[in-house]
Amino acid sequence: MAIALILLQPTSAWADVNPTELAKAVQAIEQLDMLRSGLASTLEGQTEVPTKETMKEVCRPVGMKAMELSKENGWQVKQIATKYRNPAHSPDTPHSRMALAQFEQQPELMGFWEKATIDDQVGNRYYRRINVEASCLACHGQQNRRPQFVKDGYPQDLAYDFNVGDLRGMYAVFIPEVQQSIQSAISP
Ligand code: HEC
Repeated sequence: MAIALILLQPTSAWADVNPTELAKAVQAIEQLDMLRSGLASTLEGQTEVPTKETMKEVCRPVGMKAMELSKENGWQVKQIATKYRNPAHSPDTPHSRMALAQFEQQPELMGFWEKATIDDQVGNRYYRRINVEASCLACHGQQNRRPQFVKDGYPQDLAYDFNVGDLRGMYAVFIPEVQQSIQSAISP
């Protein structure tokens, strides 16, 4: 569904997008999102308050996988949220704030793509929404019901008091243009 919506969206940025690279980024993000949902779903039905030992970690592995994807592909893969838990995930550009606002205003919008400049590099940035599922509430639900390891580990935490269906944040994949021209030069 996400893919269909993105491909149907006519934007002028398309001209410069390498479709193979775009498809690869879209697919990588779908897999990353499934990784988190899969890990979180193992917690469903648990009645005990989760601790670091009794529950698998859910979102840190996602962050580590994002770093791996960045290295492997020459992309910058990030998670970004207005109400963030890890300060490294706060909105990093005015455009990323606008993207979050757009996802907030348009619940049907799954993802989109735009021109971006990051660290003086020109390229494209793909944004993909992240919604709150029931399984997320074990750690992103009511403030006073967060697991102790979250309270201890993230003293500046803002990522709580969510409800199912809320916008939790988004993935952002920056693909520098240099990368794309190299890619198109080697592919026939
Ligand atoms: C086991 C507890 C736990 C569960 C369950 C959980 N999270 Fe998280 N979440 C965390 C922690 C801890 C972090 C900070 C990780 C880090 O340091 O990068 C985090 C961070 C995130 C981030 C990155 C932005 C930020 O706030 O730092 C997103 C997005 C996110 N979670 C979404 C979800 C979604 C969606 C679900 C349900 C599918 C979910 N989480 C379930 C503990 C959890």
